[in-house]
Amino acid sequence: MVRDSSGIISSVKVILDMVISPNGFIARENGDEDWLPHEDWDDFVAEARLHNNIVMGRETYQQVTEKYEHDNFDDVPVDHKLIVTRSTTFQAPTGYVVVHSPKEATHYLETAGVQTPFLIGGGVLNAAFAKENLLDQIQLTVTPYIIGKGRPLLAFDDFEIGMTLLEVTQQSLGRVRMTYKVNK
Ligand SMILES: NC(=O)c1ccc[n+]([C@@H]2O[C@H](COP(=O)([O-])OP(=O)(O)OC[C@H]3O[C@@H](n4cnc5c(N)ncnc54)[C@H](OP(=O)(O)O)[C@@H]3O)[C@@H](O)[C@H]2O)c1
Repeated sequence: MVRDSSGIISSVKVILDMVISPNGFIARENGDEDWLPHEDWDDFVAEARLHNNIVMGRETYQQVTEKYEHDNFDDVPVDHKLIVTRSTTFQAPTGYVVVHSPKEATHYLETAGVQTPFLIGGGVLNAAFAKENLLDQIQLTVTPYIIGKGRPLLAFDDFEIGMTLLEVTQQSLGRVRMTYKVNK
């Protein structure tokens, strides 16, 4: 059982999983992820399958769908694909569900029997989850390539997250994966 900042009790465990540069960026300013190796995408798909869901911001959905004809979210074989937006006119693409807040996302998945909502960014949505104290685990794959400017892992906002390191693994291409439990 987890109690969030508004006191609502939930049994789900929200996992944030992101690929970052060593200086904390997830994409170029224009949204390009061309500096990330394909292995990062393959690992993401494998992990998403374990959780049978993905939760993403509307901007992530649009950027990745428009830029990558292949290897976009349409090809991720999970039962639940959620897009979070404040827009009331955004139409859910076929195979996706639209929700309007982090809490609506976790509630939807909990009702569907999912125990581990799998949050996959981007940084603006990640920060929204962080502000509501909804993150339970954070998994970061640090890829050895620095971009000097870009979109951050977490949008700048007013929150702090204490964590306990659970695991560090070295992966191919010099990538390092760190798994943290969020201290509650
Ligand atoms: N390296 C990685 O692992 C990784 C992973 C994911 C994404 N990315 C990259 O990250 C970039 C996008 O990230 P981003 O930070 O710019 O945007 P984002 O977080 O993907 O999306 C932001 C949008 O999500 C919606 N949203 C955010 N908080 C919300 C809330 N509390 N309630 C309701 N809706 C909310 C809003 O949509 P509306 O404006 O429609 O209301 C907001 O504009 C893309 O370029 C993508 O390729 C990289």
